[in-house]
Amino acid sequence: MNITHLECAACGVRHEAQRLLNLCRECGKPLLVRYDLEQAGRSLKKESLGARRPDLWRYREVLPVADDANIVSLGEGWTPLLRAARLGKKLGLNALFIKDESQNPTQSFKARGMATAVSMAKELGVKKLAAPSAGNAAGALAAYAARAGLECFIFMPRDTPRANVVECEQTGAHVTLLDGLITDCGAEVARRKDAEGWFDVSTLKEPYRVEGKKTLGYELAEQCAWSLPDVIIYPTGGGTGLIGMWKAFDEMEQLGWIGSQRPRMVSVQASGCAPIVQAHAEGKRFAPEFPNAATVASGLRVPRAIGDSGLRVPRAIGDFMILEAIRSSGGTAIAVTDEKLLAAVAEIGAQEGVFCAPEGAACLPALRKLLADKEVAADERVVLFNTGAGVKYLESFS
Ligand SMILES: Cc1ncc(COP(=O)(O)O)c(C=O)c1O
Ligand SMILES: [Zn+2]
Repeated sequence: MNITHLECAACGVRHEAQRLLNLCRECGKPLLVRYDLEQAGRSLKKESLGARRPDLWRYREVLPVADDANIVSLGEGWTPLLRAARLGKKLGLNALFIKDESQNPTQSFKARGMATAVSMAKELGVKKLAAPSAGNAAGALAAYAARAGLECFIFMPRDTPRANVVECEQTGAHVTLLDGLITDCGAEVARRKDAEGWFDVSTLKEPYRVEGKKTLGYELAEQCAWSLPDVIIYPTGGGTGLIGMWKAFDEMEQLGWIGSQRPRMVSVQASGCAPIVQAHAEGKRFAPEFPNAATVASGLRVPRAIGDSGLRVPRAIGDFMILEAIRSSGGTAIAVTDEKLLAAVAEIGAQEGVFCAPEGAACLPALRKLLADKEVAADERVVLFNTGAGVKYLESFS
């Protein structure tokens, strides 16, 4: 166990590890796990990773969970980085890749975060978990909770894709559908959690989901032979994946595995809900709430981050970390219309045989914009993140 402490991402205050915590006790911002990387590096060697298990637990020394017996796994992570040669050629790119996260358990990248969060909840003695979700996080939480033998309570907007609702029910979760957005669902969890004895695993409201998500960064580096790509294009809702990868890059530099060069981080959102794009364009540190959020890409329907109180206050949670990663990497944030992101599902499907989630497909029109603006050159290595499976969104294709 190499964890030294938990650290507030905003004010830096240290918190004790191995205690059940949600947000920073001083300022209410997210907590991040810090490791003794020198100690971790004594047994975690990049040269010997090849012999390790083909899931995210191959990076065991830089993951939470003290006792292996508490690891709750369904085989998450170690998804393929697919060369997209045909699509690349069409776009005039020599090295285009798709990191296909639809090949995770429960068919989305949310499995990574829930594997680590549920494992830690089990280790710390939690019996009941709760979360608001746009859909895929719910499916993952339900599956991992079932695998751990824990009870879970899920709150989703009524218009969440049906596949997400059915998978939660069929894996034993208590499902409540609410009229409203994920933020309203978050408010309901916050309102009831103390009385009900639930541990809230909302994105970035506990320190461990981001630890699972950060393995996206470790894998990418390993699959790119320790030379990070030039550009990462990533669909962003709450932003845990992007924040996690950014954290992984810093950890790998401290481990001596990579240098200081970073990919340009490009955040993609739907035009109907683009708080990060707007805040980035305006040079803001925090992202104000996006009014009347609407998009078929349900995972991107996150008008603002969900504050600690769960109340409708314009106080965000992970936005400042997303914006900081975009800015300091020389990246950008791009909004894409529903029409374009849905057309991109069919285009990627026909060109490369990957049936993307609408969120993942949104990366393609964003890349086209970067190419039109001459912000990406022909020989740069570009990775599109397909975060989920198109088959869960059948309503969107009829
Ligand atoms: C398929 C898919 N892609 C992207 C996202 C956005 O992820 P994050 O909230 O980590 O930014 C979600 C979130 O629900 C999702 O389900
Ligand atoms: Zn703090």
